[in-house]
Amino acid sequence: MPDLPELFKRNQEWAAEMTAENASFFDDLAKGQTPEYLWIGCADSRVPANQIINLAPGEVFVHRNIANVVVHSDLNCLSVIQYAVEHLKVKSIIVCGHYGCGGVAASLDDSDHGLIDNWLRHIKDINRHNKDLFEGMTEAEKVDLLCELNVKEQVLNVANTTVVKNHWSNGGSLTVHGLIYDIKDGILKNLETSICSLEDLDARY
Ligand code: CO
Repeated sequence: MPDLPELFKRNQEWAAEMTAENASFFDDLAKGQTPEYLWIGCADSRVPANQIINLAPGEVFVHRNIANVVVHSDLNCLSVIQYAVEHLKVKSIIVCGHYGCGGVAASLDDSDHGLIDNWLRHIKDINRHNKDLFEGMTEAEKVDLLCELNVKEQVLNVANTTVVKNHWSNGGSLTVHGLIYDIKDGILKNLETSICSLEDLDARY
């Protein structure tokens, strides 16, 4: 009796469904991946990249962490960006946040969450730099505004990586987008914060 019997059962059902729909589905995937998008999103279980944008396996390269943060020294995220841009040659990098993000909310309260507070420090800084914008807001409104500001900040952080800047200076085309997802209705919103060139980045920074 294997561990996780429910998951193995679900896996076999899913694999059979995919093969029934398209007999060569797994053979085609086994040949390689050519996703057009890199998705950098929150690890929240309610925000699964492929399902939200209704894309099949093979169509989006994904990196997720708590509160979709892109830190200049995070080798994990930087390696994902490098692989996506230089090898997979994605045309779009999507930073996707979501309203009501628990990580963002935790960054706004002063209680001790342990280790994660070091990670959330990056979001506390965004809050600190934009204090005036939060005046008169309810706690929920503050969280949602900070979720949006966090996405915008992380778009800048992606655009400022050496990988992305070098890609642009070598004439490569690539757009970094900032989106936010609403768990309450399943709808994605474009935060109109896209950056597609070094000139664009200079203008925004
Ligand atoms: Co979240």
